[in-house]
Amino acid sequence: MNVKIVDLTLRDGHQSLLATRMRTRDILPILETFDQVGIHCFEVWGGATFDACHRFLNENPWERLREIRKRVKNSLISMLLRGQNLVGYKHYPDDIVEKFVQKTAEYGLDVFRIFDALNDVRNLVTSIKTAKKCGAHVQGTICYTISPVHTVEKYVEIANELAELEVDSICLKDMAGLLSPKVAYELVKTLKKEVGLPIDVHSHYTSGMASMSLLKAVEAGADMIDTCMSPLSMGTSHPPTESMVYALEELGYKTGVDMDVLLEVREYFMKVREKYAGYLNPISTIPDANVLVYQIPGGMFSNLIAQLKEQNALDKLPEVLKEVPKVREELGYVPLVTPTSQIVGVQAVLNVLTGGRYKVIPKETKDLVKGMYGRTPAPIKEEIIKKVLGDEKPIDCRPADLLEPEFEKRKKELEKMGIEASDENVLLYALFPQTGLQFLKGELSEEPFPAAINFEDVEGEFEVEFEGSVYSVKVKPV
Ligand code: CO
Repeated sequence: MNVKIVDLTLRDGHQSLLATRMRTRDILPILETFDQVGIHCFEVWGGATFDACHRFLNENPWERLREIRKRVKNSLISMLLRGQNLVGYKHYPDDIVEKFVQKTAEYGLDVFRIFDALNDVRNLVTSIKTAKKCGAHVQGTICYTISPVHTVEKYVEIANELAELEVDSICLKDMAGLLSPKVAYELVKTLKKEVGLPIDVHSHYTSGMASMSLLKAVEAGADMIDTCMSPLSMGTSHPPTESMVYALEELGYKTGVDMDVLLEVREYFMKVREKYAGYLNPISTIPDANVLVYQIPGGMFSNLIAQLKEQNALDKLPEVLKEVPKVREELGYVPLVTPTSQIVGVQAVLNVLTGGRYKVIPKETKDLVKGMYGRTPAPIKEEIIKKVLGDEKPIDCRPADLLEPEFEKRKKELEKMGIEASDENVLLYALFPQTGLQFLKGELSEEPFPAAINFEDVEGEFEVEFEGSVYSVKVKPV
């Protein structure tokens, strides 16, 4: 039996462990060798890379995609697309979604992995249909989480909705490392039987279970597994490519991977890891069983720690960790993945540090309760709606139905400013009106590599910055 290896080192790997900061100049030199390994698909783009690329590295994300494409000839290349949120944190109008997907397909991206944080398939329709029209492989994604409403039947229902949109395969996306070996087996078995599409399993190592879960998933018939090269594996990242290949081959599965070339690639990423060591938070390199209780995905966990360390309020971590599931339940058992992971995380931090629950309510929490992100997996209780929205009423349509087309407007704005209004520039600006524009004007610069992170000496008042809004919170020094 064949098992295809999907290597995520160049997207999820450094997003999980190195704050998404890998520079294009450190990605390109290894691609031609990596391309000889026999990897089925490289995930190289999307997720947070588009944002981090221009915002922190002063790099054009489109340029990165084009340069990668030039060098990868044997393997497929894929991206992670957040449905109607694309590579940003809010819903964009359909015309922007269509243009973005078309442009990306035009630059040669093969596989679109498309998900919605709430598993609200209405939010996937436009991007899936557009990518299909462009002739790309579309991987419809189910975000895996644990809650009283997330049953096997529920997942089959979501997968069937995706199948109706004619996706080519299904990704079972376990952002938080919650997928246990037992459930992985049951879920993959059932999905294969009920839906029949090829299945790719994506499981973060956060709780330390991912290698076992991938193996059980393969035994249940999974067609593809997601891994990262060992130097950027484990912790909040993924099982190591090398180890999974070895184990599977020994068990008689064919991965098509050449171990010798793989070791060459490993050498390279060892150097990358050393170079980027300043971005590596030691805590996120160790499996944490807390995730099984608190269900907090890797990225979110390191964010919470960073936020609290910055405030010198790390002693509040246990409280925040207890607050997260409470907030999550109140907000309709949303899966903790971007952007809902940030919403729940920030609200939980605010609930603890401001000394009163929902005393400070960011706009993002309001929007979630209002239905602006889509349907929550479980309905939100009337009392929370009241607390958060006051007299306002939630919407019941697809959120993007409320948005006016934007592409032409953004294009004219750029022209007026005398900036080249190419499709890629307009999209960068439409997605990130502030930093995108700064980038296009040449006002940004590459951030320096940090020395080892030092979170000491911060106390007093702190600010939560969340999508353009800044929330000021007073903290007692420890
Ligand atoms: Co991931």
